[in-house]
Amino acid sequence: MRFLWLLLATGLYVRAEEVTFHRDVEPILQKHCQSCHRPGEIGPMPLMNYAQVRPWAKSIGEAVALRKMPPWFADPAVGHFANDPSLSADELSTVRAWVIGGAREGVKTDAPAPVVRERVRPAPDLVTRMPKPIRIPANQTLDYQYIVLSPAFSEDRWVSAVDILPGDRGVVHHAVLYVREPGSRWLREGDPKSGTTSDILAIYTPGAPLMECPPGMAKKIPAGSDLVLQMHYNSRKTDAKDQTEIRVWYAKETPQSRVLTLQMSQYGLRIPPGARSYRAAVSGSVPRDAVLLSMFPHMHLRGSGFEYQILGKAGRVDTLLRVEHYNFYWQLNYRLATPRLLPAGTQLLFTGYYDNSANNPLNPDPTEEVTWGEQSQEEMMVGFFDVAVPASVDKPSFFIRAPGR
Ligand code: HEC
Repeated sequence: MRFLWLLLATGLYVRAEEVTFHRDVEPILQKHCQSCHRPGEIGPMPLMNYAQVRPWAKSIGEAVALRKMPPWFADPAVGHFANDPSLSADELSTVRAWVIGGAREGVKTDAPAPVVRERVRPAPDLVTRMPKPIRIPANQTLDYQYIVLSPAFSEDRWVSAVDILPGDRGVVHHAVLYVREPGSRWLREGDPKSGTTSDILAIYTPGAPLMECPPGMAKKIPAGSDLVLQMHYNSRKTDAKDQTEIRVWYAKETPQSRVLTLQMSQYGLRIPPGARSYRAAVSGSVPRDAVLLSMFPHMHLRGSGFEYQILGKAGRVDTLLRVEHYNFYWQLNYRLATPRLLPAGTQLLFTGYYDNSANNPLNPDPTEEVTWGEQSQEEMMVGFFDVAVPASVDKPSFFIRAPGR
């Protein structure tokens, strides 16, 4: 027994000694951290080379051990997600061993090739940007900004990928790109600036990759539509300007499936002052067969948790996603590793939880009753989800029950 312990201890020691930045840790940072921790991105400090990383070694060890970094909020016990950026158990122990072993540099020739940020993609089919920059004055709460982009589309377009590129990544909290269908009154003269049922083409959040449909699938922009950007800005201590750009890639051929972004919302929020765990639920049934691709919970500063569930027969509940520590500043999209068929009639239940107490460090005012509203200090409860349906089905026809159901 004693012999075994000695061996184990030596094994650990040797491992800690051997782990070096260039050979072991740098590839992990490239894969999991540098999308945000690079100049011009939202990460507070760049982690691009040994000199930049070394002073942060201890904090890095803690941030990864506590699973604070990279940001990801899905309960690991529920579901598997294609875009889960979390470190594997192996990667985690490598980083820990490196920190414990003195955060050595190792030899430069072991370093991996630097990662080029831009993915190699063909030239986009369409590039458009906000007609003029938007000013984000220092220290102010800005209403959502809506910007109609040109041109309007003269023919139907199938879209396979969209990249939303903020002009100033430090102030763009999120961006949602809508397809305003022909005939829609939204944001036109005489229309109150209310919500919309327009389809969503893409959502930008810091650090997230571009929107890309799986092979054989695409989103549709019907002829006569135009694109509308909803921008949520965070102001800084100094004035800023942003002019976001959109890049669009069209599908090379008509896809088999169309991707629709659907949503269920609970507008009837009435969160009492000081409530620690206010629950808001919404349920509905899927009118036609659809393949679930991804989920995107949206709440504001009081949001603390969110669940997507299927209500099965005999009270069986199947949880698809559980976000336990919802954080308004990280609006994340959870893409299923294996898309899942939702047969017509499937009952979905979405539940949002809110902490309106003083315990919630983000709470702007625990003495206030909070209801639905667009501003961050008001609340929302929206469960967005992307589904794939046959290419001939659009949003209105999706909600007309198939005959015989
Ligand atoms: C999606 C963007 C993103 C990714 C990916 C990411 N970070 Fe961060 N990181 C941030 C931001 C933004 C902050 C500032 C604190 C906050 O907002 O949570 C931060 C904070 C940190 C801090 C704390 C700094 C401090 O002030 O104490 C450390 C350490 C850190 N990150 C390390 C990492 C490591 C290591 C990885 C990869 C394993 C990583 N981050 C991946 C965006 C990111």
